[in-house]
Amino acid sequence: KTIYLKDYQVPDYLIDTTDLNVDIHDGYTLVSCMLALRRNPAAKQAATELTLQGADLELVSLSLDGRLLEEGDYTFGEESLTIFNTPETFTLITITKIKPESNTSLEGLYRSRTMYCTQCEAEGFRKITYYLDRPDVMSEFTTKVIADKKYPVLLSNGNLIEQGDAGEERHYAIWHDPFKKPAYLFALVAGDLAHIEDSFSTSSGRAVTLRIFVEPKDLDKCDHAMASLKHAMRWDEEVYGREYDLDIFMIVAVDDFNMGAMENKGLNIFNTSCVLAKPETTTDVGFQRVEGVVAHEYFHNWSGNRVTCRDWFQLSLKEGFTVYRDSEFSADMGSRTVKRVEDVTLLRTLQFAEDAGPMAHPIRPESYIEISNFYTMTVYEKGAEVIRMLANLLGKENFRKGTDLYFDRHDGQAVTTEDFVTALADASGRDLSQFKRWYSQAGTPRLDVTDYYDEDAQTYSLTIKQSCPPTPECQNKLPFHIPIAMGLLGSAGDLPLYLQGSQPDFETSDNTHRVLELTDAEQTFVFERVQEKPVPSLLRGFSAPVKLNYAYSTRDLILLMSRDSDGFSRWEASQQLGLQAISAAMAAYQQERSLDGFSLSAQLVDAYRRVLQDASLDQAMVAYMLTLPSEAYISELADVIDVEAIHYSRQAVRKALANALADDFTRIYQSYDHRQPYAATADAIATRSLKNVALAYLMLIHDEGSIRACEQQYRHGNNMTDVMAALTQLVNSEAPLAQEYSLAALADFFGRWQHESLVVNQWLSVQAGCQLPDTLSRVRALLQHSAYDGKNPNKIRSLIGAFCNGNAINFHSGNGEGYAFLADQIIQLNRQNPQIASRLLTPLTKWKKYDHVRQQLMKAQLERIRAEPELSKDVFEVVSKSLA
Ligand code: ARG
Ligand code: ZN
Repeated sequence: KTIYLKDYQVPDYLIDTTDLNVDIHDGYTLVSCMLALRRNPAAKQAATELTLQGADLELVSLSLDGRLLEEGDYTFGEESLTIFNTPETFTLITITKIKPESNTSLEGLYRSRTMYCTQCEAEGFRKITYYLDRPDVMSEFTTKVIADKKYPVLLSNGNLIEQGDAGEERHYAIWHDPFKKPAYLFALVAGDLAHIEDSFSTSSGRAVTLRIFVEPKDLDKCDHAMASLKHAMRWDEEVYGREYDLDIFMIVAVDDFNMGAMENKGLNIFNTSCVLAKPETTTDVGFQRVEGVVAHEYFHNWSGNRVTCRDWFQLSLKEGFTVYRDSEFSADMGSRTVKRVEDVTLLRTLQFAEDAGPMAHPIRPESYIEISNFYTMTVYEKGAEVIRMLANLLGKENFRKGTDLYFDRHDGQAVTTEDFVTALADASGRDLSQFKRWYSQAGTPRLDVTDYYDEDAQTYSLTIKQSCPPTPECQNKLPFHIPIAMGLLGSAGDLPLYLQGSQPDFETSDNTHRVLELTDAEQTFVFERVQEKPVPSLLRGFSAPVKLNYAYSTRDLILLMSRDSDGFSRWEASQQLGLQAISAAMAAYQQERSLDGFSLSAQLVDAYRRVLQDASLDQAMVAYMLTLPSEAYISELADVIDVEAIHYSRQAVRKALANALADDFTRIYQSYDHRQPYAATADAIATRSLKNVALAYLMLIHDEGSIRACEQQYRHGNNMTDVMAALTQLVNSEAPLAQEYSLAALADFFGRWQHESLVVNQWLSVQAGCQLPDTLSRVRALLQHSAYDGKNPNKIRSLIGAFCNGNAINFHSGNGEGYAFLADQIIQLNRQNPQIASRLLTPLTKWKKYDHVRQQLMKAQLERIRAEPELSKDVFEVVSKSLA
């Protein structure tokens, strides 16, 4: 059944208070729930019945104002319970029995290893008790948790108000959350947990206790998350004026978790992969992810909890905004340009691909079958880009005025994306009506740019045309309001900009940079007093989530790469250069089916060499500039994905660069001191990443020296980043010596880390990602390995996900065995964990982008899945939309 935004109606009833009693026993849990209900004065008609949502519940009893209800007083629907003859206000008490131990969906209350925990967003609360499980019903919760004393820690939202003995080796705790909240923000935890504690004093002087709860064995991996949390709390005060509002803030780390983390009021629940970190077990990327996710969930306290969503179509209201907030936070904690490059890379591979596929949807979708399928790159990442555009259009000061007004005006409410934009428009006085189309039209806009330099008139004109391919919800798009940050490069650097018919841009102190606002299908911008034909630097900082098309020559790109004042643009030029080289190789491969005579132009090699030798550049940027566009990005850009051509051509360009720049790579590698103690600072991460990029190139040369150095790095690396970088290179090298080392290293690694679940995940991923032949048999064997657990989402992602998403050459093997393998896994997971099953489907949904033979093979597997009995809503929606 499809749910439509246009059908939204306010709830018939409101729930003023919710009193829960959760009584946990081995094998079952009794939930009694007392609701104070009241007819919604805003409803069109006075309701005389009440429909509550509920799923997988056993109803024990139901009473209304103290009267036990009987058959005839109520009826069950599919996932619902309707009570007849309901008065204006009443108290409803339901008692239900649930089975957390056998809940494998990881939604609602479930057991993970030794603890009980919850995940309620989006619609998991209905698996705990019958409820108005929708975000616009906000209630004041009091929660009593009762359990055996072997679970000493009993937690829920808000403040602890009472705890004590419950007899028979049992005890209880009562938590009260003074802030009204929707049920999706409810949380409960019971377990034998250890914690670290710290405190934070808010800007107005409130003392807040901070606690991070983990299994005792993980207590040594909490410090980074705690430091990140304190940074985030301070940052939100300084940048958004937002203070924390309870006396305690808690994080609990859980090993079985469908997503990254969850912002439950005062009690965030995290996937262990997003909290735990220490140098010996966690890579730099892991450290950065912990910092980003801790901040993200913390920021939700305002963007999500204090002001929440009216309905699930508004998901980007909290997610897009919060991703934007965490991304700016990370930029402030580390390097701004590096963070931008990372975000854009993610967006342009995964989100652009989503926008071009059968599941494309606007950041505010119009309809869905299963809302879990809409926790997407589009709602999150593109949603964040939309907020970023707003922030840039308004400027720092007005954007802050706008967010202040938004939080002030809507505190305690459940609102829409429309309300958000209105607050920004009201505070800034800007007309954002056309801008709102970003919320309702899907697809990636394309900009086609042509230019003309008039030497006599000394004018330079840029003509920009916008278009957007059709997507399932809309065939013909209206023009978007697109901010295009730009500058013009002359032979001696940035030129001053005199845009015809406008004032200089006062946002920036210089006049060499400005933001053009494209609002028509086609527009021409004329610059005056231009004394030479410039090279345009367009879409600086990736100022809009679009595809830009301008016929840059190799020379233009080299100029931009070495001279643009915008760091992002310099990186982007390096990527365009890489793409040009790979395209040339692909053309050769497609003609000859071989790349034997392939070589790079001296001009290109020189340009890359200058980057490697430029001491003024951030090392992390050098590393990224030397990293060629990924196969995923090249695939996204292709009309038809030629799996082999992309893989072998990219590889050929990498080998050519390795050989041409071997001296520089050796210099960089050897100047690195592997004995220096680990630090997760931006600088240290940057140096490490450039050094490991150099290692990866050197390993393509197959010389004994590099292979031995790599093995040494594996063996003696004092941090997981270096160990994994070396292991990855050994595993992926065709050189016989490296293969020999890699077998020994993999065995050694497992022996050393088998008791660290998150490290074992990396061990699975590195093998599943191996680009050499026969990887699928290895993956199949690992499914049977004692370290694998087919119920744990992190294990599934590390093995099956890494193979199907990060290993195109093997997954898309021409005989279709990769597709059949994935379909087998999805069919098995469909009942066990529908959310994970549905997410794993993504690579198959892109079938239309492949050659005819692969299309048929992929489609056949989708059809096989569709034919399964008892398909979950999650899987059904994705499969049926993919085949439509
Ligand atoms: N709100 C959480 C976050 O982004 C994600 C929860 C996702 N839950 C789900 N069922 N898809 O921080
Ligand atoms: Zn979020």
